[in-house]
Amino acid sequence: MTEPRPSPTTLPAWIALTEHAERLRTVELRTLFAEDPGRAERFSHEAAGIFLDYSKNRITSETLGLLVALAEQAGLRERLTAMFAGEPINETEKRAVLHVALRAPRSASILVGGDDVVPKVHEVLDRMSAFADAVRSGALVGHTGKRFRHVVNLGIGGSDLGPAMACQALRHYSDRTIDSRFVSNVDGTDLAETLRAIDPESTLFIVCSKTFTTLETLENAKSARAWLVDRLGSAEAVARHFVAVSTNAEEVKRFGIDTERMFGFWDWVGGRYSLPSAVGLSLMIAIGPARFRELLGGMHEMDEHFRTAPFDRNLPVILGLIGLWYNDFLGAESYAVLPYDQYLSRFPAYLQQLDMESNGKGVDLAGRRVTYQTGPVVWGEPGTNGQHAFFQLLHQGTKLVPCDFIGFVRSLNPLGSHHDQLMANFFAQTEALAFGKSAEEVASEGVAAELVPHRTFTGNRPSNTLLLDELTPAALGRLIALYEHKVFTQGAIWNINSFDQWGVELGKKLASRIAPELTAETEPELRHDSSTNALIRRYRAGRRRS
Ligand code: F6P
Repeated sequence: MTEPRPSPTTLPAWIALTEHAERLRTVELRTLFAEDPGRAERFSHEAAGIFLDYSKNRITSETLGLLVALAEQAGLRERLTAMFAGEPINETEKRAVLHVALRAPRSASILVGGDDVVPKVHEVLDRMSAFADAVRSGALVGHTGKRFRHVVNLGIGGSDLGPAMACQALRHYSDRTIDSRFVSNVDGTDLAETLRAIDPESTLFIVCSKTFTTLETLENAKSARAWLVDRLGSAEAVARHFVAVSTNAEEVKRFGIDTERMFGFWDWVGGRYSLPSAVGLSLMIAIGPARFRELLGGMHEMDEHFRTAPFDRNLPVILGLIGLWYNDFLGAESYAVLPYDQYLSRFPAYLQQLDMESNGKGVDLAGRRVTYQTGPVVWGEPGTNGQHAFFQLLHQGTKLVPCDFIGFVRSLNPLGSHHDQLMANFFAQTEALAFGKSAEEVASEGVAAELVPHRTFTGNRPSNTLLLDELTPAALGRLIALYEHKVFTQGAIWNINSFDQWGVELGKKLASRIAPELTAETEPELRHDSSTNALIRRYRAGRRRS
């Protein structure tokens, strides 16, 4: 472990921000805009194909200056440099954190323990490309000679959310003769409903698991294998219909998949950062290797922007600092991500793992309990659907919920006036949130006095607007990397390890202890608390009746 850093709360910029927040608490966005005609220009920036307008935030130039100073004093630059240099910044697992190497060009060189990882990355990408091309062209067929028409990814968490989100996001670019499906839940319904809809002769299963020990994935993989053998009447079919994506060759072999049919990655790729690795195989089959590489290209562009741009013109840093401002100084508990694009409907779910598994930590790098707020709750839905569900709370509720609105200038499905209507709503929502409608304005419209409070919008509700040209593979890559580095920025300032996830262990351990108790023939001696014991007994009683 390195020398413990001081708590961020002791840094001069943090102390100054605490005082500054008291002054800014009562300042209205209406006033900030009225006082400064150049505000939109001052607080917006374009880089790597993303235009970010952050002017509708409760910040001034002084706020931003202090936040940038905080990033500097907290050692963001050093930590960022250490990540890109392949240093073991995941200290609790003693690992480098190098998802940026997964999208580095062939010409790059990144050393981990003296070993250049870039050639290995491209070797796997090349193998994936050859395999994806063979599936797409029909050169590779199933046990009975049929082309693959269904690709089922069996994985969970980072081995599911990334490719599932991206396959949905880039559906426009996908081969429509190949049906991509994702089974993650150990709830048998997930697999059963998928199997019901597919033809075993033309199905390729990708068992995707970094560790290859994840209970849900192995349970699904075993059931899928049994189904395939049963339907095709031969255990030999498994070799043609199953491939593995993992870092654990031993377990892959033990499961019965030849390592020739395994696509590897490395322990320096965190699950939630693994889409650009072999974990993206299902996506590559769907959109083709060339477009997959465009996605990587977009990610690399954002990596380079993050690595080189000064903090006050660095999109991930700006987003991270603004999020931290609300989280640590203005009391926000969550933030909403609102993509105005149906293709991005799984993006909020993807960001939930990225952000909450990374920064949902309660101790700092030295193991000291933190005295400040760390990662927020992330949630969201695509617009305009969300407007008819939870936007009421955003506009008139009592909670402060900063929002990221993500939209595109051009639609991939231009249909009559749909896109202009969509985008009119997109712009209208941030305007309404920021500026609201005062009681005087409501009353002047002739609204009955008793209804005026109900129809008043306080405004002063913050948002960022991210505007991109078109949802291309490169644009998606830039967006993903933007949020990855935003999360990194915040984790660095909070002085926490954004790259481990010990918090998921306890539940897994307890489940493995409970599982045999549920199925034991004779009544087991239960040694849990009285609530858990009673619930298990009730389940056992009901299970026997079925
Ligand atoms: O339980 C959480 C987790 O470890 C995630 O971090 C990870 O993405 C997911 O499980 C799946 O893990 P694996 O890819 O090893 O199956």
